[in-house]
Amino acid sequence: MKQLIELQVNGETYAVPVTPCDLLVDVLRKKLGLTGTKKGCGQGDCGACTVLVDGEPVLSCLTLAIACRGKKITTIEGLAENGRLHPIQQSFVDHGAIQCGFCTPGMILSAKALLDRNPAPTEEEIKRGLAGNLCRCTGYKKIVEAVGAAARALAAGNLAGPPPEEPAAGEPAGALPANGEVKS
Ligand code: FES
Ligand code: FES
Repeated sequence: MKQLIELQVNGETYAVPVTPCDLLVDVLRKKLGLTGTKKGCGQGDCGACTVLVDGEPVLSCLTLAIACRGKKITTIEGLAENGRLHPIQQSFVDHGAIQCGFCTPGMILSAKALLDRNPAPTEEEIKRGLAGNLCRCTGYKKIVEAVGAAARALAAGNLAGPPPEEPAAGEPAGALPANGEVKS
């Protein structure tokens, strides 16, 4: 049986009908349309579904949505500000740390949690911080480099990527779901 719960995602509050068994990854992707969160293995092995809950990385494929009531959830869609990429996102782009991109949202959110608690990690600490995130394209070297560079950029006060390009004529600017009730 479904019940209506409130979820706070990327600063927006959503009223979402869920069953007690609904997984956070499925609610984010299917009910809120936040498909940046990826579902890989679905059993806690790959880290592709990583999101932040109250600033801590969690595997959304192993987390019940109902358990996240009253907590702050951050997905990859919540990192950019005013159309500018977060420095970690920008660093992944700049360092070629994205191949197919499937692991990237989870990697970036794990990296954000790492840099929030340790702003100047060693290479070893970066590797440990990302140990739960698998890249099937095996681009680990560039990923570790990108996180190190992001840490330096953040320390230097480079807080955002370049401004967004104007959309071409006729091209939608793109929008995230607005506040409000989400239909089942
Ligand atoms: S999809 Fe959650 S760990 Fe793989
Ligand atoms: S870039 Fe393809 S899985 Fe990591």
